[in-house]
Amino acid sequence: GVASWISAVEAVPGVKGAVELVDAANAKVHQLDVFRYEIIKQVSALTGASGDAIYPLLEEPRDAANGDLSLPLPRLKLPGNPVQIAKDLATNFKTNTLITKAASAGPFLNFSINREILRDRLLPSVLIQESNYGRNASGFGNLAIVEFSSPNIAKPFHAGHLRSTIIGNFIKNVLESAGWATVSINYLGDWGKQYGLLAVGFEQYGSDEELERDPIRHLFDVYVNINRDAEAKPEIHDQARDYFKRMEDGETDALGLWQKFRNLSIVKYKDIYARLNVSFDIYSGESQYSLNQMRNVLEELNDLSLLKPDAGALIVDLKQHKLGTAIIGKTNGSMLYLSRDIAAAIDRQNYYKFDEMFYVVGSQQDHHFRQLFKILELMGKPWSEHCHHINFGMVKSKDGNMSTRKGTVVFLQDILDNVKGEMHEVMKKNENKYAQIEDPEMVSDLVGISAIVVQDMAARRVKDYELDWNRMLSFEGDSGPYLQFAHSRLCSIERKAGFEVSPSVDYSLLTERQAHDLVDIISRWPDVVRDVTTTLEPCNVVSYSLKLSHAVSSALDVLWVMGQERPLAEARLALYRAARITLGNALRSIGLKPLERM
Ligand code: ARG
Repeated sequence: GVASWISAVEAVPGVKGAVELVDAANAKVHQLDVFRYEIIKQVSALTGASGDAIYPLLEEPRDAANGDLSLPLPRLKLPGNPVQIAKDLATNFKTNTLITKAASAGPFLNFSINREILRDRLLPSVLIQESNYGRNASGFGNLAIVEFSSPNIAKPFHAGHLRSTIIGNFIKNVLESAGWATVSINYLGDWGKQYGLLAVGFEQYGSDEELERDPIRHLFDVYVNINRDAEAKPEIHDQARDYFKRMEDGETDALGLWQKFRNLSIVKYKDIYARLNVSFDIYSGESQYSLNQMRNVLEELNDLSLLKPDAGALIVDLKQHKLGTAIIGKTNGSMLYLSRDIAAAIDRQNYYKFDEMFYVVGSQQDHHFRQLFKILELMGKPWSEHCHHINFGMVKSKDGNMSTRKGTVVFLQDILDNVKGEMHEVMKKNENKYAQIEDPEMVSDLVGISAIVVQDMAARRVKDYELDWNRMLSFEGDSGPYLQFAHSRLCSIERKAGFEVSPSVDYSLLTERQAHDLVDIISRWPDVVRDVTTTLEPCNVVSYSLKLSHAVSSALDVLWVMGQERPLAEARLALYRAARITLGNALRSIGLKPLERM
């Protein structure tokens, strides 16, 4: 990152003014860093601490009354009493045009920055960067695999899959904003004895026509029917096993039917993902790691004496690591979920040489991933420590499935259609506005999806939550519709202004508190991007977007564009455009398409 760049330059003997060098390059895109470097220069000279150590600590104070940037001294780990050090630094720090005040508060050293300079540098820079505003280059040259969504063919797409889909998409987006190359993989549940059962069921209940029309629904129906039959007639399970055996042996006609189920399901999934603004580079799945591909893994485990027979199964004993026993396969030769994941991880490392890999899967599988990563480690794969389980809590409803106001649904499409319908009703209530919307179907769909996404991302990932339909669909509370509304209001101001912002716009006309507050929040966006690249917490972007939207709405109350003298109108318009660009970037990072009208 930038901080390590500073220390790298500083480490070269005879190179002076490293901070200025970095400033020149980085401050073009991240204005708050101009002020950070000024602080670093002096604090570094006064304490001997490196810029590398100081930079990441310079955060926004919790209470805005404490200034604009705050340095928590205990975290700098200097010898001595942090409270005293803070005091001494406050006395010795020389304020100047950039940093207008340095004051200590207990172990904190708080700085106030020159808000006029921030405003004058920030606004034109945001207008120029547009969709690039907030991006950084810290991940350049790195490749991340993000595996997410991963539903099971012929089974319900449950709320966990929906969470994985939107959180995974967010992670992919933020990594890309930090310069990472990414590969997104959808690892389908498309293999196992149950697909033998599905094939047997299809002979009985299947219809090619229905399959073409709506494969996901039809395969689910077939699956439910044949499972019910199999309860009464256990021999159906034997047929299923035989069928699956033929699939594992690679028999073309057994595989043909399965291939068709898989292909048609993917076509349908793609439509639904497109509604969510999600796409995958790779549709993979458990089927890619069938018996043949597993052989090497088994041999490797065996050579390392990790594999043990145990009551009809092959296991890896992980008790020593407090992870119980991991069942790798049955002695009859069939392999399991865990073994396929081992093979998949190795295959991905061989093929992509990824720097990091993220599995976005619910907390119910914490144990599974701990076992997986431990086994990879025991197999001597140094990259196992670069595999991460990004977990999340459950959406609580009676049976763990997704629910709408009217009841439980098993298909993602139904939940999206439902929310869209509800949104459409809400929109119709405002007749005047409704009449102006060109494509209400599209708008109600996008607003509905925003409602789902923002509700889902409102709290930290690990938290379970219960769907709150009233809150979710509200335009007023802290909701997805509220964020879209703020964005479309900003777009409408630009549309109605009827003039363009000229390059000579006079930003010094923006003097009011609301204008400075808005500038301040806009200036924080690159910090948010940087932080979420490590926390991978979408709630940070949601709370930032809400804060920004609130500041926009406070500004709009008092700082009008309409009816003002041209220079003032233009300065305000520039401010609102910068806010619109920033809010749009934030919404896109959580996977939403920002709306221009609603
Ligand atoms: N298909 C699995 C499920 O629905 C999720 C797969 C997660 N990814 C993995 N590599 N195991 O539970």
